Order: sequence, then C-alpha cells, then structure tokens
Amino acid sequence: MPPANEPLDRTRLASLMQREQKLFADKRLKSKALFERAGKSLLAGVPMNWMRKWAGAFPPFVREAQGAYFYDVDGHRYIDFCLGDTGAMTGHSPYATVKAAEEQMKRGLTLMLPGEDAIFVAEELQRRFGLQYWQFALTATDANRFSIRLARQITGRPKILVFNWCYHGTVDESFITLQPDGTARARSGNVGPPVDPAITTKVVEFNDVAALEQALAPGDVACVLAEPVMTNVGIVHPAPSYHQALRELTRKHGTLLIIDETHTICSGPGGFTRAENLDPDVLVFGKAIGGGIPGAAYGFSQEVADRISEKQSLEDCDVGGIGGTLAGNALSLAAMRATLTKVLTQEAFNRMIPLAERWTAGVQAGIAEYRMPWHVTRLGCRAEYLFSATPAQNGRQAHDAMDFELERFMHLYAMNRGILLTPFHNMALMSPQTEAADIDLHTKVFRECVRELVG
Ligand SMILES: Cc1ncc(COP(=O)(O)O)c(C=O)c1O
Repeated sequence: MPPANEPLDRTRLASLMQREQKLFADKRLKSKALFERAGKSLLAGVPMNWMRKWAGAFPPFVREAQGAYFYDVDGHRYIDFCLGDTGAMTGHSPYATVKAAEEQMKRGLTLMLPGEDAIFVAEELQRRFGLQYWQFALTATDANRFSIRLARQITGRPKILVFNWCYHGTVDESFITLQPDGTARARSGNVGPPVDPAITTKVVEFNDVAALEQALAPGDVACVLAEPVMTNVGIVHPAPSYHQALRELTRKHGTLLIIDETHTICSGPGGFTRAENLDPDVLVFGKAIGGGIPGAAYGFSQEVADRISEKQSLEDCDVGGIGGTLAGNALSLAAMRATLTKVLTQEAFNRMIPLAERWTAGVQAGIAEYRMPWHVTRLGCRAEYLFSATPAQNGRQAHDAMDFELERFMHLYAMNRGILLTPFHNMALMSPQTEAADIDLHTKVFRECVRELVG
C-alpha cells in the first residue's frame, strides 16, 4: 500500500480507464447505436451540451426512471445518486407530484392568469423560509437573474458580488474567477459572455470576511448572490461566524443578500436558511421544487417587496420580461404544491439525511483503509468526496483539489457497476426512495475502485 500523499500512478489510472471504457461500450450496444443516430440531428449527439460530460464515450440512453433508480435502453439498472443534479431529488416521478400533474394537465397547462395553487405554494414557502412575498420562474437560473435585476433596480447600483468558483445557473454576471494575484477574470470556458464580467461583478473568496468588507465598502454592489454552503465545487461549508458577518456587512453597506437554496435545500425542508436561522433579503429555490417538473420560486422580505412596488408602474410592468410568459404556469404550480406538501416533507428528510450519513461513513472507511489523501463532506442529504486531505475553506482550494482524469475514472467505474454519480465532481444525493442497501453497494464499489487504483 502506498503511503498517504504519494502521487497516483497515472499510467495505472490510464490503463484502468481504458479497461472501463471498453467494458462500458461493449455492454451498451443500443445506447451506442442511439448515440450514433443522435449525432446526425443533435449537436454533439446530445440534447443539451452538458450531457457530453458523462465519463463514458457516450451517455447511457435512458429507457425509464422510477424512485431512486433508472434503466438504460440496454437493460442495465442504476442506483441514481445524481438525481438530475437535484432536479429529481424527490426520486423520479414521485407519486403525489405525478398524480397532481396528471389531474392539472386535463384542466389547463398555462394561462398567464393566477389560480389558487399559486397562493397555496407562496403560503407554504412563507412558512418554510420566513420570507413574505413570492414570485415564480421556470428555472433557478431565471429566478437568480430576475432577483439580480430587481436588486439593481431598487438599489440603483450597477454591480453584484459572487464567490470564487460559485455556480448559480447561466447567470452571465457569475462566470468570473479570482486569479492568484487577486485580479478578477472571466471564467475560462464560459460561452459568449455579453460583456467582461469584471464590469458587472466583484468576486471574493467564500469565508474571507476582510475581502468581503473591502468589496462592499465603495457602496456600488446591489446584491451578494450566495449559496449558503458552496455545493458546486465540492461542498465548502461556511466558517462558524461567516453568515453573521455576511449579513452584518451587507446590511451595513446597503447591499441586498440573495441566498440561493437550489442545492442547499438538501439541508432540510426550509433549506440552510431555516436550519441556521439566516435572514436573507431574497431567497431562490428551484430544481426540486416541482419534483422534476420545471419551476422555481424567489421570495422577498417585506422591505424589499415595498421597494420593488415603489419602482413599478402598471404600464411598464412587463418590460424586461421578468418572469416570462410560461412562469407561474398551472402545471408547475400544481406540481410544486404536491411536491412541497407530500414529497419534500420533514419525514422525507428524516429518512434521507441518515442515508447520506451512511454514504459518508462508507466512503470515509474506504479513504482511511487505503490512506488516500482525500476527504468526504456532507450537507444534509448530499455528500461528496474531494481529492484533498482536508476540507476546503473556499472555492479556490476546492477547485485546486479537483482532478478531472481521476474523477472520470471513479464515475465510469461506478457506472459500470450500476451506480450513477453527478458528471461533475463527486456528488451523491439521497432521494426518499434510496435504500440502505444502495449505499452499501456504493461503499463496496468505492472501496474496490480505490483498491484497484493503488494496486
Ligand atoms: C445553486 C444553483 N443555483 C441555480 C442553478 C441553476 O439551476 P437550473 O439549471 O435549473 O436553472 C444551479 C444549477 O446547478 C445551482 O446549482
């Protein structure tokens, strides 16, 4: 066994990867044929660009999904720990959501008129998160974009602030990273930014109070857009008093605090905000809110709502398209109502969180057995391992610990053994239907994978 911190044998890794690639392709002839056909009508053979990122030479094409599992067209069954990167955190096709959606589908899908479901959902969100007023969008990206624009409108300030290596959807302002020399630059790989994001955005490291204070002090920042725990570069937890400092500094400098709970809803029914008594001005919750049916919500404090109302005129209230014609549609709202009341309940979290603890303990045992310089972190029902010995304190440290080649190997090894992790970093999410036996299979496969890696 190698001592901890000895570099991985990259030649061994490459040859194991080659073996896994062959295994994957040999057993998925139908997916392969569909991929070849798709290459003639879909850009890069996939309906959405990110689907190129799966670790095999082509993605497995899905036949059907139910609960914590799905089947590909070649008949393989997978335990799904990716769960649509949170969109299916409820489990696939949750019964109550599907039933409500089926009923709604016969009674109208989209009208640009309200129904009682909208009020019911807003009341439920009020109860969960403590914010008074709510609006709806189709995606978390849109909810973030609309929140930012409203923040700019009511503060009259041009800039926003985000954390280094954050992700909030396709929000143009957020694709900015801090260079080692402290300057900010457009994030490498971003597609067609409208302007240099340094014009629109300030970026600081998560957990760096002094940098935050310095960035807010000039008084030109409309809002901070923050995940309360970073989840898109591995999991980066806040230092114990960080949220208090973030709230105090944003208030002191007249900057709105937008908390994006789209992933951190894994902390419990009221997200990290309710679990840790945060007090944001605006809160965003998308993806899982409709049990897989597109929808997102964003909520405001009374004060923010009053300031928005002051700025709006009846004649111009549709200018800028905040919302969009399909937002708040009847189908999304019926799905949200059922999901919030019958699926993403406290009882569901009572089941999911211990499963994530079990997953974490299993991975930790594998890391310890082979003395890998890695660690595993958890937030509620989400867990993730990262290739550094200690937990990251900020986005830079987490990003520097990533290892694209190794990640892809771990993912493909798992996929070949009936386990799906997210295609980016090493995240696993538990659904209400995930079973302890699924976790134990992951523990076994993870251990075997590490054993083969170290040789
Ligand atoms: C924290 C966070 N906010 C927003 C989004 C955007 O969600 P969507 O792609 O559904 O718009 C994501 C997507 O991963 C996210 O992780």
